[in-house]
Amino acid sequence: MFDFSDTDSGISYESTEDEIEINTPTYSLSITDPIEAVMKPENILENFVEVGGRRYLNDVTVKNYYYLPSDQKEVERTYDRNHIDKIIWGGNYSAPVSDKLSLGASVLDVGCGAGAWITNMASEYPVSVFVGIDIAPLFPENYPPNAAFIKCNILDGLPFPDNTFDFVRQAFVIICMNWQLWKEKVVEELIRVTKPGGYIEIMDTNGAFINPGIVSKKINNFWERFYKAGINRASGTDVIETFNEFKDKVIVAPIELRTLYYGKKAGRVGEALLKIILGAYRAMKIIFIHIMRITEEEFEQMLIDFEKECNEIMLSKTRYRAIIQKRSG
Ligand SMILES: C[S@@+](CC[C@H](N)C(=O)[O-])C[C@H]1O[C@@H](n2cnc3c(N)ncnc32)[C@H](O)[C@@H]1O
Repeated sequence: MFDFSDTDSGISYESTEDEIEINTPTYSLSITDPIEAVMKPENILENFVEVGGRRYLNDVTVKNYYYLPSDQKEVERTYDRNHIDKIIWGGNYSAPVSDKLSLGASVLDVGCGAGAWITNMASEYPVSVFVGIDIAPLFPENYPPNAAFIKCNILDGLPFPDNTFDFVRQAFVIICMNWQLWKEKVVEELIRVTKPGGYIEIMDTNGAFINPGIVSKKINNFWERFYKAGINRASGTDVIETFNEFKDKVIVAPIELRTLYYGKKAGRVGEALLKIILGAYRAMKIIFIHIMRITEEEFEQMLIDFEKECNEIMLSKTRYRAIIQKRSG
């Protein structure tokens, strides 16, 4: 865990109107190799399987391609990211729910991972109740008594009655999930389980680097190919447009954006963000190697060059929070 406070960054994290356009390339590509490596018949009874020194979820019922490892390294990375996000955004959430949380609200974290947000929030708001759901059973062993975790696949519907939660949030799930599946199977469920007048908040990344250098351009290109291969990383604008299709049920606020700067030039937050993104790339090593058709040595060199580039130019990308209120009547 990084041990510095909000005041250390030296960067002001202000909203910007910038959105990123993804140019879809014209070639097609299969990325099934890494997941096939995990889902071999001999592994059928295993919850997790190790590939290339990392542990992956081995669950044929997942339906979407979940490409990040489910292991201790990834748990630590998500706890660090949660901590930095709190600094960048000035809080764990942006929806206007603080009064409700202080008085006692019911809260759902969809795709909660190892529970960094839930445990943090449950300690901060002891009279509210927090439920985290995820397909990967990576939940913490110790957590506050007002928190609970349930293993489930969000593509099978959310296992709660209508109008259950005052606040429903989902973070960094869209970047990991087929966009079409999320649109078809998840959006209406998020609305259904939210109480009338309650809020939904979606946080995710806008993916591409802004004004990239030589190496970050290659990484942007990798993501375009990844995108083309069916792992969608929709922008915040797409999320807003999707919820706007349910205008009879919800009110959609203007998207909130933060620009993230990577590397030493952006102070200690920039250094922390660089460490977190390098961790994400390492977590995706087999996919990088497969899609970029590079060797392991070339991949390691690319990360060294990326780190150098981040420390030379002011490399940035944006993160968004979409806030949606369920109509009362
Ligand atoms: C990048 S992690 C984000 C975790 C957490 N929200 C955070 O911000 O640290 C994406 C999470 O989505 C979960 N996930 C992916 N597909 C899922 C599905 N179909 N049902 C439930 N959870 C899913 C993964 O297991 C993983 O924990």
